[in-house]
Amino acid sequence: MSKNYKRTTITSALPYANGPIHIGHLAGVYVPADIYARYLRMKDEDVLFIGGSDEHGVPITIKARNEGVSPQVIVDRYHEQIKKSFEDFGISFDVYSRTSAPIHHETAAAFFKKLNEDGKFIEKANEQYFDEESQHFLADRYITGTCPHCGFEKAYGDQCENCGTSLSPLELIKPKSALSGNVPVLKKTNHWYLPLDQYEDWLTEWIIEGHKNDWKPNVYGQVKSWVDQGLKPRAVTRDLDWGVKVPVEGGDGKVLYVWFDAPIGYISAAKEWSENTGRDWEPYWKDAETKLLHFIGKDNIVFHCIIFPAMLKAEGSFILPENVPANEFLNLEGDKISTSRNWAVWLHEYLEDFPEKQDVLRYVLTANAPESKDNDFTWKDFQARNNNELLAIFGNFVNRTLVLTQKYYNGTVPPLGQLDEENQRILDEIAKYPEIISSSLDRYRFREALSELMNLARLGNKFMTDSEPWKLIKTDPEKVKTVLNISLQIVANLSVLCEPFLPYTSGKLQRLINLKDLKWKDTGRIDLLKEGDQLNTPELLFERIEDKAVEAQIQKLMDTKIENEANADVSVNPAKETIEYDDFMKMDIRTGTILEAEKVPKTKKLIKLKVDTGIDQRTVVSGIAEYYKAEDIIGKKISVLVNLAPRKLRGIESQGMILMAEDTDGKLCFVSPTEEVNNGSEVK
Ligand code: MF3
Ligand code: ZN
Repeated sequence: MSKNYKRTTITSALPYANGPIHIGHLAGVYVPADIYARYLRMKDEDVLFIGGSDEHGVPITIKARNEGVSPQVIVDRYHEQIKKSFEDFGISFDVYSRTSAPIHHETAAAFFKKLNEDGKFIEKANEQYFDEESQHFLADRYITGTCPHCGFEKAYGDQCENCGTSLSPLELIKPKSALSGNVPVLKKTNHWYLPLDQYEDWLTEWIIEGHKNDWKPNVYGQVKSWVDQGLKPRAVTRDLDWGVKVPVEGGDGKVLYVWFDAPIGYISAAKEWSENTGRDWEPYWKDAETKLLHFIGKDNIVFHCIIFPAMLKAEGSFILPENVPANEFLNLEGDKISTSRNWAVWLHEYLEDFPEKQDVLRYVLTANAPESKDNDFTWKDFQARNNNELLAIFGNFVNRTLVLTQKYYNGTVPPLGQLDEENQRILDEIAKYPEIISSSLDRYRFREALSELMNLARLGNKFMTDSEPWKLIKTDPEKVKTVLNISLQIVANLSVLCEPFLPYTSGKLQRLINLKDLKWKDTGRIDLLKEGDQLNTPELLFERIEDKAVEAQIQKLMDTKIENEANADVSVNPAKETIEYDDFMKMDIRTGTILEAEKVPKTKKLIKLKVDTGIDQRTVVSGIAEYYKAEDIIGKKISVLVNLAPRKLRGIESQGMILMAEDTDGKLCFVSPTEEVNNGSEVK
């Protein structure tokens, strides 16, 4: 905190343009970043606040493929939608760019080229999974399999979403192509690697030793554990066709890894801003007197604290982040937010249901921000914070002040008059708030800052309640002028100090009291409104949120839950007609062992088995060859229906039926006893 900076560059993680954004995005990244940017602007500091869409990466191409459109169609759609959501919620970017923009492709390609020319990469060939059917290398999410750490069966080639571990495709157990479902083969391919191991000492000095005390413990801890485990060279190119083309020899058919190009997007966005405004972008990225901050969620820590800094360091002309105030995750009603399960509050839907209530959501998400641990958003809490805090404290205080001023003085500011001791105490308190709030904001403690802002409103509300001007007006009308003047000064201070958190409310309140263009340095004072200033007709700042509004939201989530459950069971057949016990007992099912197995020639599905049923040894023909190899099932314990009338299959008499469970996707699996039992045991 010691250094004095000339300007601040604030980046906020570029959201993937493959879906709309939700409250988790807002709470984790964009609201805190916006509060900070607005706060610095209020202090007349030079700020460049950068945002944009991350438009490369495999999830986007997979989505495009599923919809049968080009990736550009997908990113165009979501870029516009996301951009609008940010505007709607007052996220005050100086530029909102996108990584499919030509300026980004040029910038990222030039960055790569420079590192390549300066010998900062290792080039090496190794084996990677390849889908022979679709003729594609299977990078990142194009491959799925079982996680070697937790056993989750749908882990991706780059990460297990169950345990959060980052993976490489070769670590997956039972890898499967996401394109065809086929088992992939290994094939040699050439790639560029950033040798992160060579940056270990530097990272240790810069972060582990240098930022021990000023970076958040959750961020610092993650970085330390990565570095402690030892860093490995990391591939920065991929065999894909959507992305920034590798701009050097041998790069045909390859693009930059999305996590290589996306953070460079912050720099490209600054260049775009420069083109739009005619201002020079370079000091914002290259001057040592610029403070660079990355606002991100915790899943992005390694990229912003290790990989991107190593890239910047390798390039040589850029500054490094001064801090990375990453947040943890926000859950929704006790469950992880999930796009695929539609478990989210989407920003565009929120605004349909709660028009013009952007500040309420900003407030709730800040008051409950996942700053140091994961947190839960619930609709009941949303309602309570609106009704009991914003409305009952802030709104109520402001409204009583404005309405009484209107009523007693036709909306003109009364004189301050004679101050008693209590009045003086209140004024002294007011003077302290800007510093109190600043000191929290300067340390990226947005919850704490907001709660201090509310304490100022509380102070006003209590002063009003204790002073009872509505009674005093009959006995001591001079004193009422003092009470309302002081209350109006608190209102005026609130209107400025709340701007970073509640920009819409700030604007509205300043219109009501005819103030504008006030800055942070003007606050703490008690002459923001002067005697005789004319105010406008009071209006309410906040409305009560009724039970039925939040119940409707909870119901909507319930419906999602039910829908998800129904979808999960979509291919399970309904139960058959009821039968009597005797019907069941007609079947004679025994445990047995497969003694011999051979594929029936010229058939796709049939295997001829010799089975020990305990009663006898007999031949059974079974349609399982698509799922099992004959040699693999010899010795297998099974259940077999022994009194099924014999029938001939391909000229072979089958004397019974092996019981198989058919998976919802058609796969067959043996119904075998899970414990040791003798052959011939009756299954009933
Ligand atoms: N798109 C990434 C995500 O949503 C974030 C990219 S941040 C950037 O997790 F630095 F790469 F831009
Ligand atoms: Zn896992």
